[in-house]
Amino acid sequence: MKEMSSDINNSLIPAKNKQMKMFVKIAVSLILMGFAYRLYFSTYVQIPPVIVVFDGGHRSSPPSLEEANLTLSGEIPAIDTRADDSMLGSLNCDIFTGKWVQDLTGPRYTNNTCETIEHHQNCMKNGRPDSGYFYWRWKPRDCNLPIFDSKTFLNFMRNKSMAFIGDSISRNHVQSLLCILSQVEKPVEVYHDEGYRTRRWFFDSHKFTLSVIWSPFLTESKIFEDNDGHASSAVRVHLDKPDPEWVHEFHTFDYIEIAVGKWFLKTAIYFENNEIIGCHNCKKAHVPELGFYYAYRKALHTTLDFIVKSEHKVYTLLRTTTPDHFENGEWNTGGYCNRTAPFIEGEVELRDIDMVMRGVELEEFNKAVRVMGRSRNGPILKLFDTTHLSLLRPDGHPGPYRAFHPDSIDGEVQNDCLHWCLPGPIDSWNDLLMNMLLKGS
Ligand SMILES: *[C@@H]1O[C@H](CO)[C@@H](O)[C@H](O)[C@H]1NC(C)=O
Ligand SMILES: *[C@@H]1O[C@H](CO)[C@@H](O)[C@H](O)[C@H]1NC(C)=O
Ligand SMILES: *[C@@H]1O[C@H](CO)[C@@H](O)[C@H](O)[C@H]1NC(C)=O
Ligand SMILES: *[C@@H]1O[C@H](CO)[C@@H](O)[C@H](O)[C@H]1NC(C)=O
Repeated sequence: MKEMSSDINNSLIPAKNKQMKMFVKIAVSLILMGFAYRLYFSTYVQIPPVIVVFDGGHRSSPPSLEEANLTLSGEIPAIDTRADDSMLGSLNCDIFTGKWVQDLTGPRYTNNTCETIEHHQNCMKNGRPDSGYFYWRWKPRDCNLPIFDSKTFLNFMRNKSMAFIGDSISRNHVQSLLCILSQVEKPVEVYHDEGYRTRRWFFDSHKFTLSVIWSPFLTESKIFEDNDGHASSAVRVHLDKPDPEWVHEFHTFDYIEIAVGKWFLKTAIYFENNEIIGCHNCKKAHVPELGFYYAYRKALHTTLDFIVKSEHKVYTLLRTTTPDHFENGEWNTGGYCNRTAPFIEGEVELRDIDMVMRGVELEEFNKAVRVMGRSRNGPILKLFDTTHLSLLRPDGHPGPYRAFHPDSIDGEVQNDCLHWCLPGPIDSWNDLLMNMLLKGS
């Protein structure tokens, strides 16, 4: 559970105070209207609409302009992109706005047909008793999302290389992709690092290389944790240096998906120009507290700037933050996630912390797109906006079934309400991935 620690109280907030919310939504819509119009007229920015939700319980007045800029600029009220569709047809359908619908087709693989499911996500094998969470499909509001087709994907990727760069959620995503693809072609693992966190596979008959690269800060970092997640010292992060872990291979990639987030909540010392500039949570008198969002913004900026300005052009997806679903506690204070069905729209709200992270992601994404400008030959940068659809799936986490038959274990069982069971809702991310890659370029 070392990748799940969070020092911030972000317990699940049920929807409440509807009137207040409505008022706040309208206020924010108005505030952001101008910004939305700017985006609307830019052919290069493709940002899906977003549900603007506030924690009604914590707020007593609408956000000021300053606040709105801090956390929300870049988010567009849902009404604004509708006009797009009538003008540009279904090609421009926003695949990230929609709902989960029941689908009795069932999972595309099982713990028996995919050999590479990691122990902690192998909920079937670990004895999770319910299976209702297999039978849902993501349905975008304005179009249909075709299901992932391994043959088409592998042919598309012939002679290409794709890397997922990030933390354990990226690994989770790659494992889902591996399981789906391995139903058509079994890959060969051609590289792994000591801890099996950076790995590479090769699909020989399609000459397709798939990698996952461990880089939980995207920028250069030094982590002082043992295998059980006990830190002997604060993380040291160089916010101005892209992580050599992925940079040294960058020239070999055709496609990348980058995503980080939760590691920025850890106690950390931040460096720029090789000098300490501040920290998060270090509580040292002579080191200023900068807040994790400062570091997150800077690290994303450093990363996107490198990608956008690189000579080597890479199709890049920036995946947005992934929410957890701990209820009645945190990962380390007895929080759990035992729901067995998706939420419906309005039943749940994004927590402050994910809202801040997503706000930073959208802002840095927009900046990078602007830098990329109108160059036709530049890298293609897209937002892979899985936050909201993931928020609606509290039922897809291992919970106690991160361990083998937890009911037979004496004593406290750790819950995982952050990563996803395989098979599980994260498989749908690959439907979205395929849709973006094939539609894109
Ligand atoms: C909010 O952002 C907009 C656009 O980025 C900017 O023009 C405006 O001055 C900002 N407002 C405040 C109060 O910071
Ligand atoms: C898959 O899970 C089932 C329980 O759902 C279990 O009986 C079976 O042994 C598992 N298969 C493998 C290969 O672990
Ligand atoms: C595959 O890529 C290599 C190196 O980029 C290139 O030399 C080769 O011609 C490509 N083969 C095909 C079938 O595209
Ligand atoms: C989830 O667990 C809580 C506490 O153990 C229990 O009260 C609740 O009924 C459970 N819900 C479901 C759907 O099993």
